[in-house]
Amino acid sequence: MIEPAPPHAEGVGLPWDVAVDDAVAVLAAARMEYGDTFTVRSGDDTYLFIFSPQGVTNFYGLSEGDASKGVADYLMLRRKLPDEMFVGRRTLPHELFSRDRTLGYLADLDGALEATIDELGSEGDIDLFALGRRIGQRVGLVSWGGPGAATGDRFQRLAAAFEVLDGSDAFVHPDSMAAVDASDKAAERAALEIVVSEITEGIEMLPDADTDGHPTFRSIVNAWSDQPDDWAARGVALDVALVHIASMSNLVAAIGWFLVDLLDHPDLLAEVREGNDGNEGHRGTTERAALESIRLAQRSIISRHVLKPLSLDVGDAVYEVGRGVTIATLLPLTNTEAPGHGEFRPDRWRGRRLADVSDLGSRELVTAFGHGSHTCPAQPFSLAAMVRTAQRLFGAYDIRPGWTERPTPVPAQIGGVARAGGPCEAHYVRRH
Ligand code: HEM
Repeated sequence: MIEPAPPHAEGVGLPWDVAVDDAVAVLAAARMEYGDTFTVRSGDDTYLFIFSPQGVTNFYGLSEGDASKGVADYLMLRRKLPDEMFVGRRTLPHELFSRDRTLGYLADLDGALEATIDELGSEGDIDLFALGRRIGQRVGLVSWGGPGAATGDRFQRLAAAFEVLDGSDAFVHPDSMAAVDASDKAAERAALEIVVSEITEGIEMLPDADTDGHPTFRSIVNAWSDQPDDWAARGVALDVALVHIASMSNLVAAIGWFLVDLLDHPDLLAEVREGNDGNEGHRGTTERAALESIRLAQRSIISRHVLKPLSLDVGDAVYEVGRGVTIATLLPLTNTEAPGHGEFRPDRWRGRRLADVSDLGSRELVTAFGHGSHTCPAQPFSLAAMVRTAQRLFGAYDIRPGWTERPTPVPAQIGGVARAGGPCEAHYVRRH
């Protein structure tokens, strides 16, 4: 299946298939033992892990037709999500982030943040990652969930259903997938029916004139207009659900880490507050800090499922890789290993690129939003959402951390931006 045969990490498995305390630590140890290229056999699957500079650069250059990100994602997510969600989608998440669309979402962002601030009131205690999830959910549903999806009882019902349907459980809590399988995804199916019912209500509330807001939702509805009403409503709901679940993979946790990092860096926090007062000069600094928070919190396994036999040059060897192998690299290892890369230093970014890559074997070894043709299409949207969220929250509140040690990631997590492994409480008081 792979020629020549790379070193094989005997006895190493991935957390979907075997009990693993810390998935990233297990793969880091395998790399120490076997070097930058090795295979792991887990369940029925063979993974080819690559970490060498040239290997990682060439990995990001693989074409979707030869080595598919879509199929690799599907194989991961189907452990959690009902199969019907993947069949017959007419709108895919990466189609929704054109410049015009993104500007539209950002116009709605402030309303979503005001609603969150109303909910918070003048003083209280809050878990910052729970707050990040709440904001991420609201920002997403106001952008593509249709009329009324981000307010009142309908928001509560949709947010609760998406907590159950959250596809990122497949890589944040891979150890729980056996239980999901054993239940035949009963809870997930029930949550999906709530989403279908709420989105159907949203379709009924959609104004006739296509100038009256909700352009993304309307385009999803239009894509199903040739179908009978019931079937069309279900199709629209499943399209919206898949977009929303894709958005929950990273953004909700990235907001949490960003708030934590800003509280750890009072000088930066002061600049963020100045940004809230309309001082645009501080936007760039805040955005660089957001990129740095994501870089350090990255726990993503980036993987491609081989569809056609291919050659992969990793520097010290060229491997012929057969169909069915999953080629992967792991951002928590590559993002932080170069000298000084374990530190939080926003000035390492110039715009959205690293300013200096001379100490990296290749630029592709470090990333927040990916490289090559699959680079995150929602990067401008996500960074703007993070910057505006921080400006608005820290503009409105003094927030005092309740933790004494920095929160750490969920140990079993392998994929996406790290979730906090424990509570991350903070006390907030309104400033003005
Ligand atoms: C801070 C937030 C986010 C981070 C750090 C992030 C990170 C990433 C990364 C690293 C990739 C590349 C994965 C790979 O090469 O396999 C990616 C791709 C992608 N992201 Fe994001 N993402 C974020 C937010 C979002 C949001 C809000 C959405 C909305 C639906 C989204 C949708 C996508 C899609 C559809 C792709 C695949 C693009 C393609 O295959 O062409 N992301 N993201």
